[in-house]
Parts: sequence; C-alpha cells; structure tokens
Amino acid sequence: MSTTASSANEMWGGRFAASPDALMAAINQSLPVDRRMYREDIAGSIAHATMLGTTGVLAAEEVTAIVEGLQDIRTALDNGESILDPAAEDIHMAIEAALTQRIGAVGGKLHTARSRNDQVATDFRMWMREALAELEAMVQRLQSVLLDHAEAHCHTVMPGFTHLQVAQPISLAHHLLAYVAVLGRDHGRLCDARTRLNESPLGSAALAGTPYPIDRHETASLLGFARPCANAMDGVSARDFALEALAALTILATTLSRLAEEIVIWSTPRFGFVVLPDQWSTGSSIMPQKRNPDAAELIRAKPGGALGGFATLVTMLKGLPMAYSKDLQEDKATAFRAFDDSMLCVSVMAEMVAALSFNPEAMRIAVEQGFPTATDLADHLVSVHGVPFREAHAITGR
Ligand code: ARG
Repeated sequence: MSTTASSANEMWGGRFAASPDALMAAINQSLPVDRRMYREDIAGSIAHATMLGTTGVLAAEEVTAIVEGLQDIRTALDNGESILDPAAEDIHMAIEAALTQRIGAVGGKLHTARSRNDQVATDFRMWMREALAELEAMVQRLQSVLLDHAEAHCHTVMPGFTHLQVAQPISLAHHLLAYVAVLGRDHGRLCDARTRLNESPLGSAALAGTPYPIDRHETASLLGFARPCANAMDGVSARDFALEALAALTILATTLSRLAEEIVIWSTPRFGFVVLPDQWSTGSSIMPQKRNPDAAELIRAKPGGALGGFATLVTMLKGLPMAYSKDLQEDKATAFRAFDDSMLCVSVMAEMVAALSFNPEAMRIAVEQGFPTATDLADHLVSVHGVPFREAHAITGR
C-alpha cells in the first residue's frame, strides 16, 4: 500500500527527488494536534520578524508585510476560516505557507535566523504558560467556593474521621479548610512551574544559535518571557517544564479525587451529610430511587489518566540525547489532554461544591454516636484531676 504524496515538500524538499510516502507523511504529521497553538505561533513569528527589523536583517517594509500578513491569518483562523493546507506537516509550516500565499516570496524571509526547533519550543512554553495561569485561576475559584461554605459552617459540628472511623468532633469548616490548604499547595506548584518555564528558547535556532545579528532579549520581552534561555541546545530540547507541569497536574488530580471521595461518602443516604442537587446527580436506568454522584466518581477516577500522561512524557524524554529529536513532537498531544482533563475536573468540582447543601442535623446525630468525645474526657481527667494520661485513657476506655 505504498503511495506517494502529490508534491515534494516545499519547505525542505530541496535535495529530495521524491515526496514522502503517504504513510511517512501520516506518522510525521502533527498539524491536527499543534494547530491548537496557532495564536502562539503567530505571536512568536511577529516578535521574530519585528526583531529582525530592529537588527537590520529585514527591511522595514518587509517586516510590515510579514506582520500584517500574519495578523490577517490570525483573524481568519480566529473566525474559523479553513485557510491552512490540511496536508501541511505542522502548524509552523502551515502558517508560513499561508503567509507566502498571501504576501508572496517575502514570506519566505520570516524563517531567517530561526528553526522549527526553537519555534515549537517557544510556542509550547507560551501555550503552557497560559494554560497554567487559567488552571491556577480555576483552583482559586474552587478554594473560594470551599471558603464560602466554611464561613457558613464555623459552628456546624461533625464527626472527624481517622481510618474512616469516628474520631473526634470537628467543625465542618475545619474539614473544608483542610482542602483549601492542600489546594493552596497545588496552586503553588502550578505557579512555580509557570514561573520556571518562562524563558524564551527563540534564537536558539536548530541547536547552535545563528550567525545573524539577532536580539534574543527583544523577542523574549515582546513575548512576555522573563529572559532568553541561557543555552541554545537546552532551549530547543528541554521539556522538563512540561514534565513539571504534568507532575503538578497529577498531584492536583489526587487532591481532587480525595475531595470527590468525601462527596461520594457524604452523599450516600447512610451518611446524608450533604445533598447533591439534581443538576449534579444522575439516575439509574433500573433503580428509580437512585441519585448517583457520577461527577464525583469520575473525578475520583482521573488520577490514573493524569499519571499516565506524566509517565508517557517521562518515557518519551528518558535517554534522549541532545538536542532536538522528533520524539519531542509527541509531547503536545499528551500535555493538551492532561490540561483539558484537569481544567474540566477543577471546574466541575468547583461548581458541584458550590451547589452542595450540607445537612448539619445529620452531622450532629452522627457525632453523637461512636463516643467522639472520649479523648476530651481523658484530657479532662488529666487536666482537672491530675491523672496520668495513660491511666485516663484506660479509665475512659472502660
Ligand atoms: N512539529 C515539530 C514538533 O512538534 C516541529 C519541529 C520540527 N523540527 C524538525 N527538525 N523536524 O516538534
């Protein structure tokens, strides 16, 4: 089933007599995945062209033509127009081809002093920077929803559990604030990852930098990076920023799964601590009485997928020699899926928690069963009657 694509590749086909086999093109193509970064790609190209104008590599009117062409392409893509060649290898080539089609041969000057290696690394960092910031805001929304409930339930007494056995009385606020605290660290990990990745690979070119006079500080600052990457080989091949982000997402998924489990437990009629409103419950097709907490259960199930994404990326990066290898093209599908899942889970959790109504009466009844004040009685014997704690423990136990 060996067929060949219709035309030789215009971007790199100079020394090739034949076009890639259709299957070669199929395994090589990343456009369906990386077209998601078209805005980052265009922003990177505009910054690159602007800088080439500043340093005199491109003439002012060339820069204007390129920048305006790229802006038109961005508008067309924003409007959902299908202007990209679906057979293009990746988003970088698709946009450059669309540019040349629009503005003519001068479009071919955009790739001066640049490689797709530094281009894709720049796009991916910018995409992830944005995604992390969005996710951070979502985590904060979940924290504030928990805080609202906590504020309303400072005096709602419930059983606190260890080993899922009644332990000591606590307030519902105390329990909810435990999740606010964990989420604070989850939020911090996302911020750390975002801050650390914020260095610009642009100007690394393929791996060795470029002989053209470029200004990496200018492109870095135009694109909102704190500084250029210190080493060009590292710039094009580093993906530990993505690993770090996916590790943070995996940990976040475990936090969410714990809270999800509480909701599953609290909403069973046996506990009845919380009522899941209709919008967040599902029914059974056979048992009319059921109100199932499907969303919470699905969130509880997600850490495996998150860890799978992390494991995929670790396996991809492990043992890769410097500098760029095509293995690195596989990173984006994995990262996009992990972020999509995390964002869905955090938003669902925030809105579901916001919609919960707690049942203080059920919690009070539960707290009266199982002797949760036994520790307080032992403490009383110690502090008021001077009994050694070990003895007070035994007396109370009896
Ligand atoms: N589509 C590629 C990626 O995502 C872009 C870089 C290609 N570079 C190369 N030398 N073939 O990694």
